[in-house]
Amino acid sequence: PKIAVLISGGGSNLQSVIDNIKNRDLDCSIEYVIADRECHGIERAENEGIKTVLLDRKKYKNSLSEKIGEILEENVDYIVLAGFLSILEPEFVKKWDRKIINIHPSLLPKYGGAGMYGIKIHEAVIKNKEKESGCTVHYVDTGIDTGEIIIQEKVAVSPDDTPETLQEKVLEKEHIILTKAIKKVFTD
Ligand code: GRF
Repeated sequence: PKIAVLISGGGSNLQSVIDNIKNRDLDCSIEYVIADRECHGIERAENEGIKTVLLDRKKYKNSLSEKIGEILEENVDYIVLAGFLSILEPEFVKKWDRKIINIHPSLLPKYGGAGMYGIKIHEAVIKNKEKESGCTVHYVDTGIDTGEIIIQEKVAVSPDDTPETLQEKVLEKEHIILTKAIKKVFTD
């Protein structure tokens, strides 16, 4: 299957998908990487010779989803949100129903929703003295982090964990379950 990966940050999840395609663990091709801002993930994609498009969210504003649709319609089968921070418009999500998945660094439905992203999640987990955290891959629906869950992986929170050390532990698991989820929903 042909996929697009949407990013906003470092691109380590994108890199894990690239690596698993190269080592033949994952049978799909990344036709496009789309970023909504300048970010390191763009270089990762360009280093692999993947078609990469920067759609600055400040420039496109509420036409970002429309522009993404123009680029991807007829060109890819599925979309993977990998640290993508813009919210896709409901009509776009409906058109791509069950064809968009997202990776989120918490055990949804806990620590999800607007404003819960990046290090803030791990700060809240530690502040609330959670014994465990983890990550989730889910279908994207018209809500924020509310779609049907595909796969989750847990991580123990140790007393000496900082938000940064917890983020690192969770990120390692994200790299594992994202490829597992793509296999499960897009290639089986
Ligand atoms: C990851 O923690 C991801 O779950 C979250 O943003 C971060 C992106 O990391 N949505 P990267 O850009 O894949 O390295």
